Amino acid sequence: MKKPLIAPSLLSADFLNLNAEVQMINESEADWLHMDVMDGVFVPNISFGFPVLEAVGKACKKPMDVHFMIVHPENYIEQTAKAGAMLMCVHQEACVHLHRTVAKIHESGMKAGVALNPSTPVSVLEDIINDLDLVLLMSVNPGFGGQKFIENTLNKVRRLRQLIDTSGSKALIEVDGGVQAQTAPLLLEAGADVLVAGNYVFKSANPKETIQQLKSL
Ligand code: DX5
Ligand code: ZN
Repeated sequence: MKKPLIAPSLLSADFLNLNAEVQMINESEADWLHMDVMDGVFVPNISFGFPVLEAVGKACKKPMDVHFMIVHPENYIEQTAKAGAMLMCVHQEACVHLHRTVAKIHESGMKAGVALNPSTPVSVLEDIINDLDLVLLMSVNPGFGGQKFIENTLNKVRRLRQLIDTSGSKALIEVDGGVQAQTAPLLLEAGADVLVAGNYVFKSANPKETIQQLKSL
């Protein structure tokens, strides 16, 4: 099995010591840094916005993978690119004109990802899969870290793997929510490429070692 890309989620970091947390990520084997932006409308929680994205963008040496759980993410594409994001991920459920939004993300120079909630079928992406760099499958309901992994995600990963392979798309499969030592190998076996982990990394005794452990599964 090929090595997964590991994207620790900053949502579970110690916000009073953000600089130290970002330095830890810089020194670790993490491939990307996952950043969760929430608006209190699309999801029932509010996290952080552009002042934090910009500050972290200056200190972080790893590519930033920014996951927007907000309505009208299309209004923030330029600002996200300016903050230094490598990839901007928007929710399918939040975008009426998803094709236009994906095109605009690409025009701004970023890679484009689309996220699906647990209840949204993979089939909604059939006609856009060839335009995507990444599909993020939520394996918990978005809004909070530290929730229990939803088992049906494994079926969705398999279905998405099939859709990507048969369409010739280059999209990576990212899974977000409840990723830890038990769920990670099952996800990789099902065909996932990128694993996001919040609590499992940042609340562990030795986050760098935990990242290394996920990396070498
Ligand atoms: C939840 C976020 C996740 C979250 C995952 O809405 O999208 O990125 O940080 O946290 P864990 O890994 O703790 O489930
Ligand atoms: Zn996320």
